[in-house]
Amino acid sequence: MAEKFDVVVVGAGAAGLMCAAEAGKRGRSVLVVDHGKKPGRKILISGGGRCNFTNYDVTAGNYLCRNPHFVKSALSQYTQWDFIAMVAKHEIAFEERDHGQLFCEDSAKDIVKMLLAECDLPSVQQRYQVDAHQIEQTETGFRLMLNTDAVECDSLVIATGGLSMPKLGATPFGYQVAEQFGLSVVPTTAGLVPFTLHKEEKEAYAELSGISIPVVVEAADGTSFKESLLFTHRGLSGPVILQISSYWTPGQAVTIDLLPALDLQETLGVMREKHPNQSLKNSLARLLPKRFIEVLIERGDIQDKPLKQLNPKEVAAVATYFHQWRIAPNGTEGYRTAEVTLGGVDTDALSSKTMEAKQIPGLYFIGEVMDVSGWLGGYNFQWAWSSGFVAGQHV
Ligand code: FDA
Repeated sequence: MAEKFDVVVVGAGAAGLMCAAEAGKRGRSVLVVDHGKKPGRKILISGGGRCNFTNYDVTAGNYLCRNPHFVKSALSQYTQWDFIAMVAKHEIAFEERDHGQLFCEDSAKDIVKMLLAECDLPSVQQRYQVDAHQIEQTETGFRLMLNTDAVECDSLVIATGGLSMPKLGATPFGYQVAEQFGLSVVPTTAGLVPFTLHKEEKEAYAELSGISIPVVVEAADGTSFKESLLFTHRGLSGPVILQISSYWTPGQAVTIDLLPALDLQETLGVMREKHPNQSLKNSLARLLPKRFIEVLIERGDIQDKPLKQLNPKEVAAVATYFHQWRIAPNGTEGYRTAEVTLGGVDTDALSSKTMEAKQIPGLYFIGEVMDVSGWLGGYNFQWAWSSGFVAGQHV
């Protein structure tokens, strides 16, 4: 005889644990399973071990989804304030960093402990190192195999996340379930991920590894972000690059304003008046890391000479170069280091109020497995909490 539950949740990550807790609070019998050894592995490593669990300012504009309105209902049913209230109820100390990002003061472990405490209900069971497979629809719900045991449930929740960080247990399982039930899947790619560079640029900039510059980066579609860029051995990273990577299409260039806080043409004009014999290199080295300027000169991108020898056209050209530095990445570091997966289960097939598949009653998709990806800054966890919460009210 198959064991029977009201709800089976596959995936004990952020979304799955939230959904299990909420369904359990409604008295539903819930089994949450994961093929990993322990719950919330991504939560534990997130935010440098401090988990950027939400943001003070969350709007639909912070998400990428083929249907930009889809996220609105869940985000308003369970807001960042609701999650902050839960964190406060569990007496977890947190701090605000730039751009309204909220982090644990102590450790991301506190968030996992909190979710497990919320799941600590007589009606909620958790099982680990469990492989879910062979899902079938029955007259009343679903039947699936968990390792070698059959289980039946009225509602099946797929919370298996995206493809990023395979070493933390990411699998395409959720997409396969969607396809099995005829739901379309928006093609997936790595998001919030560092750029790699073509060989020649990679070699030229590799020695700048570790240098960080505050910049504004713009993608071909006009989306822009203002944050820090970081040179790495493989290419470009830092928050601004992770953000823009989600809007970048292979083959396109991104435009980087290396000096967003000033008008370089005007600044060079003033410097030229005051220090006509000063070299362009030394002038620029007052504004940007010296080694970076030297590399640009070595590459022949800019020509060093005393400021007095630069005619107005050349000054304008130098200013344009630094305000519109164009880089065409070779690619990204891919799922190995990506924080999220863009694309996923098509939201057109799902109810935005409950996350239930419109054509398959009882089947739910929550969290990152769906075609919803947030910006860097706590938005991806907020989506996991909000989508997990609303599904938890209906399963
Ligand atoms: P999640 O990936 O958390 O959980 C899915 C679970 O399903 C996993 O436990 C997995 O083992 C399990 N699973 C997969 N396939 C299975 C199968 N076939 N059978 C059984 N179980 C299966 N976001 C944010 O807002 N703030 C932050 O600070 C960070 N930081 C961060 C750092 C790093 C390094 C990464 C990689 C990602 C982030 N993120 C983030 C993104 C965030 O971690 C991510 O969006 C959420 O964890 C998604 O939650 P889910 O519950 O949807 O998937």
